[in-house]
Order: sequence, then structure tokens, then C-alpha cells
Amino acid sequence: MTLWTFIGRQWTRLPPVPKGDYLKDKVVLITGANSGVGLESVKHFSHASPSRLILAVRSVEPTEKILAELQSLHTELKGEIIFLDLNDLASIKAFPEELKKRGIDKIDVLINNAGINPGNGDKPAEITKDGYEKTFQTNVLSPFLFSLILLPFLEQSSKPKIIFVGSGLHTSADTTPIQESINQGKSIVKVFNDKESFDNIKIYGRSKLLLQMITRQLITSLPSITIVTVSPGLAITKLGRDFNFSLGFIIFGAPFMLLNARSAEKGARNITSAVASADQSYDYWSECAPSYSESSWLSSGKGIQATKVFFKEMVDEVDKISPGITKGLTE
Ligand SMILES: NC(=O)c1ccc[n+]([C@@H]2O[C@H](COP(=O)([O-])OP(=O)(O)OC[C@H]3O[C@@H](n4cnc5c(N)ncnc54)[C@H](OP(=O)(O)O)[C@@H]3O)[C@@H](O)[C@H]2O)c1
Repeated sequence: MTLWTFIGRQWTRLPPVPKGDYLKDKVVLITGANSGVGLESVKHFSHASPSRLILAVRSVEPTEKILAELQSLHTELKGEIIFLDLNDLASIKAFPEELKKRGIDKIDVLINNAGINPGNGDKPAEITKDGYEKTFQTNVLSPFLFSLILLPFLEQSSKPKIIFVGSGLHTSADTTPIQESINQGKSIVKVFNDKESFDNIKIYGRSKLLLQMITRQLITSLPSITIVTVSPGLAITKLGRDFNFSLGFIIFGAPFMLLNARSAEKGARNITSAVASADQSYDYWSECAPSYSESSWLSSGKGIQATKVFFKEMVDEVDKISPGITKGLTE
């Protein structure tokens, strides 16, 4: 994405929050519901009469306070808080049982919002207890696995929808490790989880590119589900918590970001608008409307080939984690 496109998108006037009971009789599940654009989306949803709002979070206590506040404003709101740590595959695997225990057998809208940006410093890779690089697991592997694990619940809905929260930064991600893996016949999954080749500064954009590749392919593999990848745009949230604020960043980077960033509430409108009005799958949704990825690599022959290879690898990977989980995919 060019600088001018970025600025143009950030300054686009966004439509107001959708109104009405568009979530009536619908069960909505959102990850990372306690902060940033996830929290603001939850506030939007609480006006739209969902039959149940499921907040899947790793910070349960603060979320209890958030839910109590929302329920004091919307006395009819039925909410559930369920523990989920995307860095712990056991918590993803346990999730369906947790839903059943609470009498939930259907999900109409799943929003994979939780994500991390490990910052702008040169740090070594952090490996999770499941053996994956942390940003890869949080932003790529776990949202994919979580979606497939919840398929039986989505299949109970007459109009199921999965939202993935992507990022415009996928367009400027350096594709070298993907390209090299393809050229040398190496596994992309292995390369991204290799401590030696890890690059902390580049991993966020790359993780969002990998997510974009998966969701693009998932649209054809799950034709009966509306799948939308939403970009909230640059929004002021806690996503930058791991950034180190060097003098250079404070003088040059921070003012530019603050000048062009939107509020978390405006970022969330992108998610809410896709939930309320996306009538078919879109592999990119930004400024509250169907859009397109500005990554020319993604739509090039090499990008299309890499997308197919990576998707196949990820299908095999999640099938190893949860055998049989991918049987609902058509290709
Ligand atoms: N803000 C932006 O400019 C921007 C731009 C493009 C895309 N996005 C995307 O928007 C999404 C939301 O981010 P945000 O900006 O709202 O940031 P945020 O305020 O930091 O919120 C991130 C949420 O993800 C949760 N989370 C992180 N790691 C998790 C894990 N292992 N398991 C479960 N939950 C986890 C956090 O929970 P805790 O509070 O417990 O840590 C938090 O609720 C992310 O996918 C991000 O990549 C943001």
C-alpha cells in the first residue's frame, strides 16, 4: 500500500454504527473482547439484541467488569465469558466442551479479533508451550484452528459468518521467506517457526499476510459460510504495548501515527459493518465496505501458488493438532 493510499483510507469518512436489531436471535462469539477494537465492537453489538454474546478472552476478571457494565445499560443482554488463550492450544480444544456445558450448540457469527504485535525491537523468537513462534500461533495458526474447531456450531446457523481481523500491513510484508520456502521446497510453517530465521520487526506484517492467504483460500473451501477479512485501519488501541519508544520513533513515527490514526471505536465500525451487512464472502473489507487487498504479490502467479501451498500445509498442521478437524473443507 502506498503512503497516499494509507492516508486516503485513514481519512475516509466512515459511516455511522449500524442501527437496529441485526443480531436478533443470533449468537455472536468474539475473541480479544476486552480491549481495543474488540471491546468497541462488543459495545456496538450490545445495541443490536444478540441472543447471546460470547466473550472469549484470556483476561477474565477485567472482562467480567466490562460485561457487568454493559448489562447495566442493556438489561436484556445475555453474555458469557469463556477463557481462551490462543497461545495454549489446549484452551482452544477445550472450547467446544465449554460451550456445550453452557447449553450453547449454535454460533451465528464468529469474530477472530484477538492478535498481537510483538513490537519494533530486534528481539529473539518466543516459542509457545505448543512449540510455535508466538506471533505465528496467535495471529495465524490459532484463529484458523479455532474456526475449524467451531465449525459444528457454525453449521447449526442458517447464515453462518466468520470474520477474521487482518491488517493493511500485510500489503507491505516482505515475502522473501515465503518465496524462498517455495523455491527450495521447504515447509513455510517450519520456516516461520524457526528461531534462527525469525525477524521480530517483520513478523507482524508477515503474520497478517499469512492470515490473508489462509482466509482467501478458506472462502473457496467453506462455500456455505460467509467469510470476511476485515481491516480496522490504524486505530489507537493497546496493540503497541510491546513497542519501544526510541527518541527517533517519538520524534518522527509517533506524531505521524497519532495524526493519521482513528479511535478504536472507528476501527471497530469496520468489524461491526461486516457483521451487520456483508452478504457474501469478501477477502478484504475496509472503511466499512467491501474492498480489495493492495498486495500485488498476493494476486500474482507466485502469490496464488504460495497461497495454495501454504493453505495445504496449514490444513495438514491443524489436522495433526486435532485429527479429523478439516473434514468439512471442500478442497
Ligand atoms: N490497532 C490497530 O491499528 C490495528 C490495525 C490493524 C489490525 N489490527 C488488529 O486488530 C485486532 C485487535 O487488536 P487491537 O488493536 O484492538 O489491540 P489490543 O487492544 O491489544 O487488543 C488485542 C486483544 O487480543 C487479545 N489477545 C492477545 N493475545 C491473546 C491470546 N494469546 N489469547 C487470547 N487473546 C489474546 C488481547 O487480550 P489481553 O488484553 O488479555 O492481552 C486483547 O483483548 C488484532 O488482530 C490486530 O492485529 C489492529
